[in-house]
Amino acid sequence: MDANELKAIAQAMVANGKGILAADESFSTANKRFEKLGILQTEEMRRAYREMLFTAAGVGNFFSGVILFDETIRQSTQASVPFPQVLKQAGIIPGIKVDLGVKPLALTPRELITEGLDGLRDRLIEYYKLGARFAKWRAVISIGNDRTPSQRCIETNAHVLARYAALCQENGIVPIVEPEVLMDGYHTLERSFDVHQAVLKTVFQQLYRQGIALDQMILKPSMVVPGQQSPEQVSVEQVAHATVRCLLDCVPASVPGCAFLSGGQGDEQATDHLNAMNALYSGKLPWTLTFSYGRALQQAAMQTWMGRADQVAAAQRILYHRAESNSMAALGKYAGG
Ligand code: G3H
Repeated sequence: MDANELKAIAQAMVANGKGILAADESFSTANKRFEKLGILQTEEMRRAYREMLFTAAGVGNFFSGVILFDETIRQSTQASVPFPQVLKQAGIIPGIKVDLGVKPLALTPRELITEGLDGLRDRLIEYYKLGARFAKWRAVISIGNDRTPSQRCIETNAHVLARYAALCQENGIVPIVEPEVLMDGYHTLERSFDVHQAVLKTVFQQLYRQGIALDQMILKPSMVVPGQQSPEQVSVEQVAHATVRCLLDCVPASVPGCAFLSGGQGDEQATDHLNAMNALYSGKLPWTLTFSYGRALQQAAMQTWMGRADQVAAAQRILYHRAESNSMAALGKYAGG
């Protein structure tokens, strides 16, 4: 492991105005999204869809990295160019999702634990050979009644995230540490703040215990927003202030950047929130704030593509527009439209 190399990759992942495309949907998530739109759920359709995303001209100006799924990192364009190579040629760093999804947490079945540590070292060695230079692991925390999330759920997920991060750094791969606090529920902005704070503090305690070099990782947090079913209405600025206040409280300055997930926010909403944070706190933050969106970058492009070869160019234009808008938001200069 070369510390300088990992540091340089982490910095490049959150370089000014650049963010990450999360295109690492598992079989079931990708198929569910296709099914909703009436797109055939086959390996070839998933490959063709990813080819549309990765070959969109000019997106390398806005994407520092793309997160791939195990199936995708092994696939190629129709012209037989492996996807990791396509990305590298566009100046984009290939990354890989390495968790194996969530299961009920033993003895607390209403909460979730992310699996995938067994055999991870060997998988990382293989992914490195396939071209991956960063990885992603998503932990899922939901907000329910007063006792959810439990301390046990927070601690267990944080511990696993830290062990994943250690294995990544040992094997020359920058870990994206993603503790997602779900938006589902009736909770207030304040409760979301409290849960985010508890989760992030525990995650950094565990990262410290496992000896993680904080300047060689990226945090992928959720934004502090009220629950999707909550009657509470908050402004874009309130979300921006709550999120930044929480991160300032919990995220050490040595972390190069936070790349947010979109988590089910609308495309424009995710862009507006990121833009507000960067505009309101310009020059006042120790780390970069950028995007690592899945749905908020892809949804509109997928709806245009619909599995049709004659729609590829139109879908790529939409992806380009979302990528450019979020790049502006990462600079706090998004003016809408
Ligand atoms: O793990 C979650 C993805 O990487 C981000 O997806 O922006 O649709 O929440 P999302």
